[in-house]
Amino acid sequence: MAQFGTVFCDHISVARFENGSWGDAVIEPLAPLPMHPASHVLHYASTCFEGFKAYRWQDGKARVFRLHDHVARMQRSAASMRLPVPDADMLAAMVIDLVSRQLDDIPDPPSALYLRPTLIGTSPNIGAAAAPSSDAILFVLASPVGDYFAGGARPLKLLVDDTIERSTKQLGSTKTGGNYAAALGPTLDAKEKYGADQLLFCPDGDVQETGAANFLLFSDDEVITKSLDTSFLHGMTRASILALAEDLGYRVNERNFTVTELLEWVQTYEAALSGTAATLTSVGTLVYRDEEILVRDGGAGPNVEKLRNALQAVQYGDAPDTHGWLTEVS
Ligand SMILES: Cc1ncc(COP(=O)(O)O)c(C=O)c1O
Repeated sequence: MAQFGTVFCDHISVARFENGSWGDAVIEPLAPLPMHPASHVLHYASTCFEGFKAYRWQDGKARVFRLHDHVARMQRSAASMRLPVPDADMLAAMVIDLVSRQLDDIPDPPSALYLRPTLIGTSPNIGAAAAPSSDAILFVLASPVGDYFAGGARPLKLLVDDTIERSTKQLGSTKTGGNYAAALGPTLDAKEKYGADQLLFCPDGDVQETGAANFLLFSDDEVITKSLDTSFLHGMTRASILALAEDLGYRVNERNFTVTELLEWVQTYEAALSGTAATLTSVGTLVYRDEEILVRDGGAGPNVEKLRNALQAVQYGDAPDTHGWLTEVS
């Protein structure tokens, strides 16, 4: 299958905020969205987005994973960017209508339909660095995506950097483009210099997250991950893994921890990245101050695999949805 995020369904759902209110959402053929060159988003980065998946089950219906939680996160992001906050029911309906229309384009699990609601500020004003955009466009893109693990899951290598931040304290938990722009350069440098897959941002030693995933540690009876604050994105996969871990009898330990603690723990703990694209992927190697440190023996972890399987079983309909995470679409 084509590279993640490069193939699109032929329709999108679009709603416009003008003159202080939202117009009706409409499903339109996928096409360029004409925009004024002075649009606020193009100059002052007034944008936020979401990313989540719908799975097609054997009954031919789709199930959207944690739709309402993603809509709520989008609302928080919009408020933090001072963009018009989409009504929760409107955004959820836009997603459901689009998924319903594109049902036949959803490949069978482990493939899925990736959904990307995006909100951009469109007021034509290049003198508005300190003013919000009063107009906005909200659209939902849909993209069939393949199995991230096709060809086998290789444990990842992370560069541990304790000097730079991925984002700022006020925007770390906002899903906005600028955070990805800030992470891009250092992540590419880490790839080039160390062959690292990702950079783990640990400013002043505080272990936070990578450019697009959360970071977790696992033993046979415990899961450790950073407790929620505004410095990093509150991943839905992270939250789901923690809930399933609790169901399975693990002790869930949400706490801040340092690079020093991390380097000690990985002698015995498994490490993994969590996110919508990769679900839960083992980390096999850390690079810190030019030194390579193996996470246990450097291989994939059994507890990581157990929890990934538990999550995918719910998503694919092989286990009951006891937490009410799925929205059915037909
Ligand atoms: C910066 C960042 N952290 C964490 C995540 C994981 O979030 P989720 O599990 O909701 O996909 C993502 C992916 O969206 C991300 O971009």
